[in-house]
Amino acid sequence: MEEKPVINLEKIPEHVAIIMDGNGRWAKEHGKARIFGHKHGVLSLRNVVEGAGEIGLKFLTLYAFSTENWNRPKVEVAALMQLLVNTISKEVSELNKNNVRLLTIGDIKSLPNNCERELEKAIEKTKNNTGLTLVLALSYSSKWEIIEAVKSIAKKVENNEVSINDIDEKLMDENLQTALIPDPELLIRTSGEHRISNYLLWQIAYSELYFTNKLWPDFSKEDLVEAIVDYQQRERRFGLTSEQLKK
Ligand code: IPE
Ligand code: IPE
Ligand code: MG
Repeated sequence: MEEKPVINLEKIPEHVAIIMDGNGRWAKEHGKARIFGHKHGVLSLRNVVEGAGEIGLKFLTLYAFSTENWNRPKVEVAALMQLLVNTISKEVSELNKNNVRLLTIGDIKSLPNNCERELEKAIEKTKNNTGLTLVLALSYSSKWEIIEAVKSIAKKVENNEVSINDIDEKLMDENLQTALIPDPELLIRTSGEHRISNYLLWQIAYSELYFTNKLWPDFSKEDLVEAIVDYQQRERRFGLTSEQLKK
């Protein structure tokens, strides 16, 4: 029997991004309201963050709420925001204990005031942690982020701080919300959907994609390891030939 590959701890990606999807379907399968799925999703999130720290990942970016998600029923949006506030305030000490630094990307100003405040507090309290950086994408959409970057570059051109010829990939990188974060080597989406849903479009230009049918509340740190093992079997060619890479 062929042996199953195990994780190579020397080749852990620096950054994994996840689209945490399937909470609603998970709740439905259990005959419960959607928010029940979101609550269980928080348990997965905790477990996966713990696992990411254990294997030495530097960045984990989680899609928690998209710009498009604002169009969900008001009660669901309100419940999600409440869950966010409760989770952040409850988990800060755990994040500190595990040396995790919290960051956010997205239009944080569009969140309810108490969410924004709770996030700011948590970011401040964890800012000196040197282990995993947990990035929560909240009220995030990639097209929005790209437009904001273009606006800020245009302003610099207008103020003669940058000339049009200076606009390159690096300048775009620096003007995105992910400026200080390396591009993810691996993007995971749960729940069997095969789409990107306006997530990190610029940053995943060369990421490896991994799709699993598991619904997010069923996803655990063991599944994260499985995805990374899968990633480690792949040959990332960046336009070159396989032969070139072996030289
Ligand atoms: C992902 O689960 C969580 C959020 C988008 C906030 P969903 O709520 O999208 O779950 P499904 O896709 O309806 O199962
Ligand atoms: C993407 O999930 C957003 C998050 C996981 C927060 P959705 O469930 O909102 O995505 P679509 O709309 O089905 O593509
Ligand atoms: Mg969904």
